[in-house]
Amino acid sequence: MINVGMAGIGFMGMMHYLAYQKVRGAKVRAICEQDPKRLAGDWRTIQGNFGPRGELMDLSGIAKYADLDELIADPGLDMIDICLPPARHAEVAIAALKSGKHVFCEKPIALKAADGKRMVETARQCGKLLMIGHVLPFFPEFNFAYKAIIGGKYGKLRGGHFKRIIADPAWLPDFFNPDKVGGPMLDLHIHDAHFIRLSCGMPRQVQSVGTMRGDVVERFSTQFLFDDPGLIVTAAGGVTAQQGRPFTHAYEIYLEGATLLFDYAGLPKVGDALTPVTVLLEKGKVERPKIGGGDALAPFAAELAEVVRSVSNDTPSPILSGDLARDALALCFKQTESVRKGKPVKIR
Ligand SMILES: NC(=O)c1ccc[n+]([C@@H]2O[C@H](COP(=O)([O-])OP(=O)(O)OC[C@H]3O[C@@H](n4cnc5c(N)ncnc54)[C@H](O)[C@@H]3O)[C@@H](O)[C@H]2O)c1
Repeated sequence: MINVGMAGIGFMGMMHYLAYQKVRGAKVRAICEQDPKRLAGDWRTIQGNFGPRGELMDLSGIAKYADLDELIADPGLDMIDICLPPARHAEVAIAALKSGKHVFCEKPIALKAADGKRMVETARQCGKLLMIGHVLPFFPEFNFAYKAIIGGKYGKLRGGHFKRIIADPAWLPDFFNPDKVGGPMLDLHIHDAHFIRLSCGMPRQVQSVGTMRGDVVERFSTQFLFDDPGLIVTAAGGVTAQQGRPFTHAYEIYLEGATLLFDYAGLPKVGDALTPVTVLLEKGKVERPKIGGGDALAPFAAELAEVVRSVSNDTPSPILSGDLARDALALCFKQTESVRKGKPVKIR
């Protein structure tokens, strides 16, 4: 049994806590939260942009800390699950690793590329696992694509387009602050950067165009260049000025024997637009695989099951490893550099 201490009970902390209830092999033994009401179990003020609304929780039997150092020092814990704002990820993860705990931390790994590297290096030095909550590959649509790519059922990967765009979140004052959230690149596109790194490998160069808002990218389009010149991968992301479509994400993925399509746009005023996962095959055949979905907690439970597997086998997860998350963060910064310079930027 993995004894878990959770740092931060906001939107993601609540989602992780609820997901732990669905997973075998890990149990939340302690929580740390600076808000006294949330620490005592009153989660009614918690509401994210998906998933359930917070309720009054019975947290009896769970140790409660208002101080992160006390949580990290708790000798009964094997792993610290960090759901704090990103500016706290690096320092808390490094302290937890140094105190002999495994770490599972929400994305982005950190707000600075150097911090991401330090976290991975500290985990290596301490002989502990660092896992980052890149949950996208556990969402049914992306899980289907990931398995299709790595499983080889449709032959070799030849390219893909990825899109993740939101309406300008004017109600989030820190969204474009590089020291607090990092803008659309680090908050949103990092999901696609991680998926691209995971399923296509590390590019050798990125070429981006876009607009800046202060120090962070506002909207962009990137071409990822790989050693294999036949692998054509692009991504678009950022914010739009209009509010009618709060969120959209989509992909087209080209394999030798199939094209995979998926496109979702939240359009509250006129009804959501959806192209469910669709597979275009040889001779005009078109399939709509049954991929499940509809349960907001299920991807997080699947992600936690992967965390449990990784810790139980004491082996870095092929999906959630700190190395991949560090690379995804590095890609986001190289893409930003390319927008700023108006020319391609080398990765390696
Ligand atoms: N994977 C996803 O789909 C997804 C979605 C949303 C957010 N996230 C990530 O999850 C992380 C948290 O985001 P969120 O939306 O849950 O934020 P949030 O603001 O809702 O929650 C953060 C919580 O941490 C607490 N906190 C802050 N500093 C603290 C301290 N020093 N000690 C104790 N508690 C402290 C706050 O009181 C708050 O309850 C971010 O890294 C974010 O990028 C991931």
